[in-house]
Amino acid sequence: MPESAPTLADQFDLPDALTVETGRGGLPCLKIDTPDCRALQYFHGATVTNWTPADHAPVLFTSDRAVYDGQKAIRGGVPICFPWFGGHPTDPDAPSHGLVRTAPWQLLQTARGSAGVEARFVHHLDQLRADYRVTFGSTLRLALTVTNTSDSDQTFESALHTYLAVGDAARVTIHGLEHADYLDQLTDTIHPQGDQPIAFTAETDRVYLNTQATCVVDDPVLERKITVEKLGSGSTVVWNPWTDKSARLGDFGDQEWTRMCCVESANIGDQAVTVAPGEQHTTAVTIRVETR
Ligand code: BG6
Repeated sequence: MPESAPTLADQFDLPDALTVETGRGGLPCLKIDTPDCRALQYFHGATVTNWTPADHAPVLFTSDRAVYDGQKAIRGGVPICFPWFGGHPTDPDAPSHGLVRTAPWQLLQTARGSAGVEARFVHHLDQLRADYRVTFGSTLRLALTVTNTSDSDQTFESALHTYLAVGDAARVTIHGLEHADYLDQLTDTIHPQGDQPIAFTAETDRVYLNTQATCVVDDPVLERKITVEKLGSGSTVVWNPWTDKSARLGDFGDQEWTRMCCVESANIGDQAVTVAPGEQHTTAVTIRVETR
């Protein structure tokens, strides 16, 4: 069971701007309120559900129908997919997107750094340890460090499954993945992106292969650009469920596909990561927003 909010608050000498609160569904979360931003991070899945930098509307999308029951992954924000992405390679009964987005994480440390307020969470699996450091400032910095705690090589997949808030998904363009190839997960076929930015005209579920590119989501409705810059990530997932899939998702509103798109900094398939015993791998993502 997750620890209750008062117990956790007593354990840490928290910076002024950070409090441990009881969030939705009674789940503990960190609430950040500084001159630079307001934010929320749940202990469940270590999921950052909100980041609102000063003078901007919320940058992360979280569904109005997200379930906060401490079991299901929170639909929105930044769920962490790890140690596999999508279905498990051999076990059809294993949960989609791995084990950690539905697990309680342990808060290790909070601090105030030069780039903002920081929180560090940890979650232990049998052979891998996941450390997640989030810095809440005028930019949002996410760093997932995986350490191999076993005595043999370990291979894993991961994704920081970032749900970005947009004014109208049918009108945004995503720049940066031109000339990359993508695996269309709907048809299981590979295609070149060509020289055009991505525009959503139907359900879109793509893994862009072998790319470290920075992506910019250009949003003419909210009149802003969101930049997703990454290190230690060899694939990028772009997802919008569009109409029919939205209707099939129980924890997602039928029309909510218009207000979000996912740009996920990932390591999937051929870009899965192998770490030697005692070694580490970090995926670091910086998200920033600017007025268009
Ligand atoms: C995306 C996948 O990353 O996550 C999609 O590419 C999937 O295939 C989507 O539908 C949502 O997954 P889930 O398990 O949170 O419903």
